[in-house]
Amino acid sequence: MISKIVVTGGAGFIGSHIAESFAKDGHEVVIVDNLDPYYSVDIKKKNIDIVLNSGNAQFINADVTDLATMKKIIDDTVDYVYHEAAQAGVRISVEDPFKPNNVNVVGTLNVLKAALESDVKKVINASSSSVYGKVKYLPFDEEHPTQPVSPYGVSKLAAEQYCRVFYEVYGLPTTSLRYFTVYGPRMRPDLAISIFTRKMLANEPITVFGDGEQTRDFTYIEDVVEGNVALLSNKITNGKVLNIGHGNQITLNDLIYNLKSITGSRSDVKYVESQKGDAKDTHSDVKLACELIGFEPKTVILDGLKKYVDYFNS
Ligand SMILES: NC(=O)c1ccc[n+]([C@@H]2O[C@H](COP(=O)([O-])OP(=O)(O)OC[C@H]3O[C@@H](n4cnc5c(N)ncnc54)[C@H](O)[C@@H]3O)[C@@H](O)[C@H]2O)c1
Repeated sequence: MISKIVVTGGAGFIGSHIAESFAKDGHEVVIVDNLDPYYSVDIKKKNIDIVLNSGNAQFINADVTDLATMKKIIDDTVDYVYHEAAQAGVRISVEDPFKPNNVNVVGTLNVLKAALESDVKKVINASSSSVYGKVKYLPFDEEHPTQPVSPYGVSKLAAEQYCRVFYEVYGLPTTSLRYFTVYGPRMRPDLAISIFTRKMLANEPITVFGDGEQTRDFTYIEDVVEGNVALLSNKITNGKVLNIGHGNQITLNDLIYNLKSITGSRSDVKYVESQKGDAKDTHSDVKLACELIGFEPKTVILDGLKKYVDYFNS
């Protein structure tokens, strides 16, 4: 069945992949994005073009913090909302906690309110492994305590709690997906893998914050898109949060070793003091997503890195 799907943040990294996938599947896609200049607007415009050329899609330049506009866009004709718009980035949130709060919390509340008034079938909300923060045990399952260590993590936690409450109190079907460090083509230029690749291909020195022994569960974009697509019209996940990760952890040092051998780089590695707000470790347990939506991440880190470097070179 063809659905009308609004993708907020659809000009960004993850949102553009989700929007592209739905457009290719024949759905009617509406990208809603304010083209925030947090990183290159040209990259976002190219992402939009890719989606527009993939099928029945349109772009609306709009801000999720504007409730009246969200109500106009998310009207009775909309079936699903994939809410990816956010002020992403841990470090920027440490410098300025107000903007992430406004975009991520108020923006999400606006999207939920507009969706509720329009009888949208479901809102799928992009959350983050940053909600876990302080590690009690690894891997993180969805029952792990949530003690974010950055203002960004706090804002994503507040947003997913609003999603749960909108389901439990008002009956609006919602699901939040906690993404674990997503990478792949079109990834944000401020993310470690894209910075490292850029510098390694130019044989420039790379900077690591901390001793490089921090671990991440890097998740390939195609797996993230599959998790999102599987949620369309899935009812057993209403009101729930699900981890969307690869399910493996790798140290930053190992990541750099692999990326250096793939790129053949001679870049030096410089270690500097770790940054405030950065999590020490992330590692997902994806059993729940596997059980409820058949989520099975396919791309292992070495293959994903090779695909990313190929994309970068092309
Ligand atoms: N990339 C990751 O590793 C990762 C990990 C965990 C969670 N997430 C979450 O996934 C989602 C997508 O992240 P991404 O990496 O694609 O980031 P991104 O910055 O590439 O995409 C976010 C998009 O939202 C748009 N946006 C920002 N403020 C807006 C506003 N006020 N109104 C409308 N649009 C606005 C931006 O212009 C951008 O195009 C975000 O919710 C992010 O918090 C990402």
